Amino acid sequence: MTDRISVREAGHGTPLVLLHAFPLSSRMWREQLDELPGADGSEARVLAVDLRGFGGTELGDDEPSLDLLADDVALLLDRAGIERAVVGGLSMGGYVAMALARRHPDRLSGLLLADTKASADTEQARANRERVAAAVLARDSVRLLVDEQVPSPLLGATSVRERPRLEERLRAMVEEASPRAVAWAQRAMASRPGSLDVLAGVRVPALVLVGEEDAITPPSDAEAMAAVLPDVVLTVLPAVGHLSAMESPDAFNWAVRGLLARVGDFD
Ligand code: MLT
Repeated sequence: MTDRISVREAGHGTPLVLLHAFPLSSRMWREQLDELPGADGSEARVLAVDLRGFGGTELGDDEPSLDLLADDVALLLDRAGIERAVVGGLSMGGYVAMALARRHPDRLSGLLLADTKASADTEQARANRERVAAAVLARDSVRLLVDEQVPSPLLGATSVRERPRLEERLRAMVEEASPRAVAWAQRAMASRPGSLDVLAGVRVPALVLVGEEDAITPPSDAEAMAAVLPDVVLTVLPAVGHLSAMESPDAFNWAVRGLLARVGDFD
């Protein structure tokens, strides 16, 4: 476990832990930190985590594994005095949320899986991750990642066409990532197991959310997760790509408020 986990926090209501996409940081959750606590802060206590190597959290020396990131989240909950939280992740953050559901199911009061998938990587996807990891380390630069991912496929076609400032914001975030963290996360994601069996055992309310134009984890991946989760709402956001929380924050937050209400009823 890492000793220093950097977190952005807002509000004092239902605990909601948000786990960012690759290769971003807690900065991607700006609109969720601003809006989800509500006017008086009582609707949610949002904790946006910097996963290892990203934002303000050090990478450390452990071998790559998403399980370590899930254990980091459990440790963070311990330190914050939170027994159970709604845990939400977008893409890589979703993989970590599923690892948490496998390793620490009793820490969940609700589950949000946004623009992510429960399947393991194909051999081809693993080989591609290793290509990127080796290249960024060899060049000591994340330029290749910026060139291959920004604006597409990270952003949807509508955002690329209509939201130029979002592209700038995204580019700055990706450029901030460290080559070591990028390589570590690629290798950690490559070795993750499939999680459909874990999702079938989730006993808390879940929200599966996906952008209609998501080219990385398309709606079919969301449908596969929703098909096995026992208590689930599936929401498809129109005119939105992979980074739904950034591309359409109002619609994203509206759907998350619905999950928070269901968790309240469930408790
Ligand atoms: C992400 O957005 O976190 C990545 O696209 C996830 C992945 O590479 O599988």
